[in-house]
Amino acid sequence: MQRLESHSGRCSPINFRSDFCWLLFAFFSILAHQACALRMSNATYIQSNANVSFPITAKEEYVVFSGNTTQQSQQLIASLLSMLDARDIAEYGGPYTGPQFWLVQMNSAQISGLLKSIPGAEVYKNAVVAQRQMKYASTPNSAAYNVSGQLNIDNSDIIYQENAPPDLKVVSWPDDKDLDDSDFLKYYAYDKNGGQNSVIYVVENGIDPDNEEFVFNPVSWRYAPGAVATPTDDDSDHGTCVASKAAGYRFGVSKRTPLMVLKSSLSFADVLWAFQVIVNDLGALPALRVVVLLAFSSIHSNRVRTNVIPQPWRRVRTLMLQAISRNAVFVVVSGNKRNGLEHQFVDGYPAYFAYPQFGSVPLTLVGAVDNAGLEAPFSRQSAYITAWAPGMNAECAHMFGPSLYNGTSMSSGMVAGLAAYLLGFPNPPFDIGGGKTAYNFNKYLRETASWQRSSEGVPRVIWNLQDGSSIQPLLNISDTLAASDIAHS
Ligand SMILES: *[C@@H]1O[C@H](CO)[C@@H](O)[C@H](O)[C@H]1NC(C)=O
Ligand SMILES: *[C@@H]1O[C@H](CO)[C@@H](O)[C@H](O)[C@H]1NC(C)=O
Ligand SMILES: *[C@@H]1O[C@H](CO)[C@@H](O)[C@H](O)[C@H]1NC(C)=O
Ligand SMILES: *[C@@H]1O[C@H](CO)[C@@H](O)[C@H](O)[C@H]1NC(C)=O
Ligand SMILES: *[C@@H]1O[C@H](CO)[C@@H](O)[C@H](O)[C@H]1NC(C)=O
Ligand SMILES: *[C@@H]1O[C@H](CO)[C@@H](O)[C@H](O)[C@H]1NC(C)=O
Repeated sequence: MQRLESHSGRCSPINFRSDFCWLLFAFFSILAHQACALRMSNATYIQSNANVSFPITAKEEYVVFSGNTTQQSQQLIASLLSMLDARDIAEYGGPYTGPQFWLVQMNSAQISGLLKSIPGAEVYKNAVVAQRQMKYASTPNSAAYNVSGQLNIDNSDIIYQENAPPDLKVVSWPDDKDLDDSDFLKYYAYDKNGGQNSVIYVVENGIDPDNEEFVFNPVSWRYAPGAVATPTDDDSDHGTCVASKAAGYRFGVSKRTPLMVLKSSLSFADVLWAFQVIVNDLGALPALRVVVLLAFSSIHSNRVRTNVIPQPWRRVRTLMLQAISRNAVFVVVSGNKRNGLEHQFVDGYPAYFAYPQFGSVPLTLVGAVDNAGLEAPFSRQSAYITAWAPGMNAECAHMFGPSLYNGTSMSSGMVAGLAAYLLGFPNPPFDIGGGKTAYNFNKYLRETASWQRSSEGVPRVIWNLQDGSSIQPLLNISDTLAASDIAHS
């Protein structure tokens, strides 16, 4: 049996995909050590004595939970070991939570035996439970956004990205400028001190770390039980795009925030694994300023509108609350509409956790607008949206070159970028710590780091408090930073 955080030789030290010298290197090194310190210990294999009394199906993969006491957990482990080959059991958890769940290969008879003999045990098929939120086709964009168009005037802390995509420029659109102002959307302006003391956890089926977008980000990597390494590690056609909106050099809000890629499918076990890793990391490194980008939503929507969270998602919620109490900020899509009225509104997890009947979890719920600040027609509605961000014809990185996309995923990437940018200042503009970071960030986002772009539109759209409408003096650009200068500045 493989214990805690390890599975079939995948517990390798975290793999750094780009060179950098930076404080988080030390952080991540500790994390790598931590993960592998939990490496498998061979447990005793006990001969099966299960009472097999009905037809045995083929083995399939299940997620198993014990009751919530230590004794129940120990009973469950003993029972699993008594019934199954130790190779068919992997245990996940961490030093701060204890064992949380087991990923087990078993058949129907074994499930039955387990449920009969272990009070409080729960077994779920390890099915796909969510989908990513970028359903609209992309169109390639020929506009060249190169990395040399980032201007630093008079050696101030503010960088002006001249050739930024229009959706990104919206983020530094100051609140005293009208849409028809001729200076509108001239630059994306940002403070170079932002985003450097935070980290974005990207729960995706990989990103392409060799994409030009991530040349300045330290990118580190971990694999969920259901994920495998592939040559580019960009398997979903989604992760690279969404991550580039958060922290890409050309397309992203926070240019150099390190990325922690939790490469995972959207199976129940992989989703749980990702939340568990985040809780474990925050337990080991309480000072880490973590933003988690969750651009997915549950498949089985709560159409009946009961107030009962399905048990698998209740487990996810528990882990999310633990991470929030350890000061993580979760950025979650409201989701893309599908056909039919029943899909007009948010009706999936984890977005639903923001609702009062599901506990008013202080996650950051994101809807999509166009570049004029009007609600995107595909964006799911909700009274609990925290922030709106561009997600219509938004430009992002893609394995075949820059592309335009529609989707709340792009919006959530930008909000995660803004969260990381603000949290990553040496002194963030709101109080952090004490389990209140997410709440305080949301309050700041609602009250300060957003404003209503369109007089007709209700949404308050994210703003990074900079003015990208013009640079004074524009004619004397003292310092056009080359990419290599920026990397080492
Ligand atoms: C676990 O078992 C494997 C294979 O039987 C063996 O090679 C390994 O040394 C054992 N590990 C420990 C920690 O006992
Ligand atoms: C095994 O199950 C059968 C059918 O449910 C039952 O009659 C029998 O007593 C059980 N045997 C043991 C050892 O539990
Ligand atoms: C354990 O579960 C029971 C039943 O669901 C619940 O009443 C109890 O509060 C839980 N205890 C802890 C420590 O979570
Ligand atoms: C990069 O972008 C800037 C600003 O748009 C442009 O002036 C410059 O020619 C571009 N450089 C390259 C190498 O494409
Ligand atoms: C995004 O949606 C708008 C409005 O439906 C549409 O005009 C545009 O072509 C879409 N863009 C992409 C990239 O699909
Ligand atoms: C830009 O500034 C430099 C140094 O202050 C000065 O020598 C130069 O003439 C200025 N150029 C323009 C176009 O104003």
